Amino acid sequence: MTQPPLKLPDSGPSSHALPDGRLVAPSAERNAAPIFERLAEYVPDHGMVLELASGTGQHIAALAGMYPDVAWQPSDASDERMDSINAWRAHTGADNLRDPVLLNASKPWPDFPDFRLAYVVNLFHLIPQQDVVAVIRGAAGALATGGHFFIYGPFRTDGTFRSEGDARFHASLTAQNPLIGYKDLEWVEAELCAAGLSIVAVHELPANNLVIVAQKPA
Ligand SMILES: C[S@@+](CC[C@H](N)C(=O)[O-])C[C@H]1O[C@@H](n2cnc3c(N)ncnc32)[C@H](O)[C@@H]1O
Repeated sequence: MTQPPLKLPDSGPSSHALPDGRLVAPSAERNAAPIFERLAEYVPDHGMVLELASGTGQHIAALAGMYPDVAWQPSDASDERMDSINAWRAHTGADNLRDPVLLNASKPWPDFPDFRLAYVVNLFHLIPQQDVVAVIRGAAGALATGGHFFIYGPFRTDGTFRSEGDARFHASLTAQNPLIGYKDLEWVEAELCAAGLSIVAVHELPANNLVIVAQKPA
């Protein structure tokens, strides 16, 4: 059965569209600077980078401008998101920002050229556990040896929420779909290892978010 769209803090009128079709999500504006600061440690000096669940496309459009020697590949499972990503692409005019691809990352992945970095922002808490496993396996298969998988979002640690607000957000998600919600950091780490990746770092980011970084062994 198809699930209705999730109600998220930014899915209401607080997400707005610019006249040229670019969608702007306030959460993506807020978290961009701390994410970009951390991501900088893992952006290769050349080659391809894949963004999963690009959403509006505003993150990858900014990154393509910051790193012109890297090819940036946006993707999302939603056909509707392609329009906004394309509008951001047209707005930046960056040659190194590829056409977005429709990619449900929890389904079998197409053959991609090897990525030196794959990153995902705010997806894992929105999909069921078995879909997270599929995303991790897909990313592990698409990475070049030595490539990194960078995962940003809210997580529990050993079943404990990092704040009251996180517990409330998780409850609001499971009320909409009992299969989704926050994942345990330790479980994600174990799945990354089971997919053949090694854990490189776990970073604390503002608003109780974490970044988990794994690497495909050389
Ligand atoms: C909360 S938004 C995050 C978007 C963007 N990363 C950001 O930080 O603004 C979640 C996005 O995940 C996409 N999505 C949901 N399930 C997906 C899946 N299985 N594979 C790829 N994208 C997915 C949705 O279409 C939506 O654009």
